[in-house]
Amino acid sequence: MSLLKEFLSRVEEGYLLIDKEGKIVFGNDFLIKRGLVRGQFEGHPYYEGISNLTVISCLAEALSEKKDKICHIDHEDREYTVYIFVGTELTVARFSDITEFKRYERSKRNFVANVSHELKTPIAVLKSLLETLYEEEDREEKKVFLEKALKRVEEMRRLVEDLLIITKLESGEERIKREKLKLKYLIDEVFELLEPKAQERDISLHNLVDEEFEVKGDWDKLFLLFKNLVDNGINYNKRGGRVEVKAYRKNGYSVVEVMDTGIGIPKSHIPFVFERFYRVDSSRSREMGGTGLGLSIVKHIALSHGGRVEVESEEGKGSIFRVYLPLE
Ligand SMILES: Nc1ncnc2c1ncn2[C@@H]1O[C@H](COP(=O)(O)OP(=O)(O)OP(=O)(O)O)[C@@H](O)[C@H]1O
Ligand SMILES: [Mg+2]
Repeated sequence: MSLLKEFLSRVEEGYLLIDKEGKIVFGNDFLIKRGLVRGQFEGHPYYEGISNLTVISCLAEALSEKKDKICHIDHEDREYTVYIFVGTELTVARFSDITEFKRYERSKRNFVANVSHELKTPIAVLKSLLETLYEEEDREEKKVFLEKALKRVEEMRRLVEDLLIITKLESGEERIKREKLKLKYLIDEVFELLEPKAQERDISLHNLVDEEFEVKGDWDKLFLLFKNLVDNGINYNKRGGRVEVKAYRKNGYSVVEVMDTGIGIPKSHIPFVFERFYRVDSSRSREMGGTGLGLSIVKHIALSHGGRVEVESEEGKGSIFRVYLPLE
């Protein structure tokens, strides 16, 4: 036991052990050095020994629900993730200092945001110059080149736009409105935008959302979310296929399903599709003009609404993307 205590006194993480009566039985040196516990905390109830109010309320919730929990705290200019593992005899709280990690994330995000922002103007200028050249060109063979160049510039414009959206959503700076929205009309608008593309590929779009069904959220952001999901449903479909959207309520959430009868996603790829720039089949995706940011945007918009997104898919049969948006 003394070896274990020696070890715990040296680790760069905080450990707090609480018995089933809610009394602190042990806290390591890290917690004392960082001012996360106060005075003679051992033997006292956790709400007297712990000095951070957020940790106290997080622990109180975990203990009363008998459920593990993770919370994030700011304490004396440092940031921590606190993992609470609830057991029958013993509850363990582990404190990880994430200050440096957060700082690194912030600087990476700022870099991407700055570069994207600086690229916006030159791309817009290039685009309008190419458009003018295209309109004034009479020779067909030259027009073909200009058309290709325009397509590439449009890809760049989209990439930069998507990167800016993601960095804003990640930083939490983007304000998310919480308005009551009629989902059916939102999906109608998404379909209107994507109908030409769907027709080109002989894919039918079906909006099965009830006229009265409401969700709480930000119209523009949710529009972007469902545009990306329906767009994928069309892109990764087969000729003659379908894309359906339906919605229902479950356990305090509005659940919106976007279903397609497309190529599906192989099981081994499913855990990664929401990652930035991840593509299952990059040649097919490139053919579609995709950059692999769509689902990452979808995930971030769902998270910023306090919700989440999941996918169920069968190769060769199709996929269902489920978006959960909290009712309150
Ligand atoms: N409905 C779907 N059916 C099958 N595969 C899909 C579906 N949706 C996404 N995928 C796979 O997941 C990958 C990531 O999708 P994502 O929307 O993030 O990027 P993308 O479509 O390639 O590019 P874009 O940024 O233009 O959306 C896709 O490249 C595709 O391989
Ligand atoms: Mg996509």
